Amino acid sequence: MPDALETLTATAPETTRPIARLTRKRVFSGIQPSGSFHLGNYLGAIRNWVDQQGDYDNVFCIVDLHALTLPTTRETLRSNIIGLANTLLAAGLDPAQSIIFIQSDVQEHAELSWLLSSTTQFGELRRMTQFKDKAAGSEEVSAALFIYPVLMAADILLYDTDLVPVGEDQKQHLELTRDVATRFNARYGETFVLPEPDIKPAGARIMSLEDPLKKMSKSDANPNAAIALTDTPDVIRRKIRRAVTDSGTEIVATPDKPALTNLLTIYSLLSGESIPDLEERYAGKGYGAFKSDLADVVVEAVAPIQTRLAELNADPEIAREILAEGAERARVRAAAKMAQVRDRMGLGLG
Ligand code: AMP
Ligand code: TRP
Repeated sequence: MPDALETLTATAPETTRPIARLTRKRVFSGIQPSGSFHLGNYLGAIRNWVDQQGDYDNVFCIVDLHALTLPTTRETLRSNIIGLANTLLAAGLDPAQSIIFIQSDVQEHAELSWLLSSTTQFGELRRMTQFKDKAAGSEEVSAALFIYPVLMAADILLYDTDLVPVGEDQKQHLELTRDVATRFNARYGETFVLPEPDIKPAGARIMSLEDPLKKMSKSDANPNAAIALTDTPDVIRRKIRRAVTDSGTEIVATPDKPALTNLLTIYSLLSGESIPDLEERYAGKGYGAFKSDLADVVVEAVAPIQTRLAELNADPEIAREILAEGAERARVRAAAKMAQVRDRMGLGLG
């Protein structure tokens, strides 16, 4: 972008940025402050957000309202929010290039969610596989867990989002978002942009180290299933050493070897070497050497993030300020969209 254009874009008020709108696609993504952040979150989502942030007009959201869908406490939620904010910054999200904010700081998310629940079908929500999975593992199933995808649709649609970078598990929610937006537009007139999912083929589904048929997940009861971004080098080495492998001895990424495919994927994404190159390098070598090298690669990749995280954790004011400023910028956009939505729907007296 030429300098003059960049200055113009940077100084125009949020609501009147026609040039930014024309030149750069809008990206929105969200992540829940619900426990430790693992390698799947990093490779499936955050790393892509960081890598692409220079190319788009980005909004990234810490979705604390979504975290209320499963039982939590005040203290846990607070500490997860600040922990996640620091992790996102440590991983490379840059407030100069992206709006970073907390969902509940912008009340329009909750408001739009209610309005969109009127253009969402009960049957659509009942089909959501994430709801079925989470409800199955929970003693108390809240109504919030059921309408969770409507709040997610509101997050995305509030910002005229073009692209939503997420992991594979969110694809169904994105389809629902498009269906709800299409229905709303048909009923009330063109209001919402239809967002596209941005799912990278590699890394979109990093699997558990204990069961390669299950995705690596924050909520896994087995602590060895996931590598947390905050794990020490010793813990990382131990988890990789005990990670399950497939029968046989070959180190190849084939459909009948889901465990090795997963380990090779992690290795390739973090080292930048292609999977065929890695297969060739480890041909005829044992799992021991492969796992030990993989552990080195993971330890090396997370080390700089951990260093920055420690600095940010020592000074929580840094994140607090960035999030306050992010909320202010997000609010301007959200308020403009909501005014349009209320008017379209005939709410109030106009
Ligand atoms: P969550 O941990 O469910 O809040 O997810 C945060 C982001 O990480 C979303 O974009 C997910 O799609 C992505 N994600 C979560 N688990 C994985 C995984 N095992 N592999 C790849 N991406 C993931
Ligand atoms: N449901 C997403 C997850 O569990 C988090 C999320 C909430 C989200 N709102 C969003 C992701 C909007 C993308 C866009 O990972």
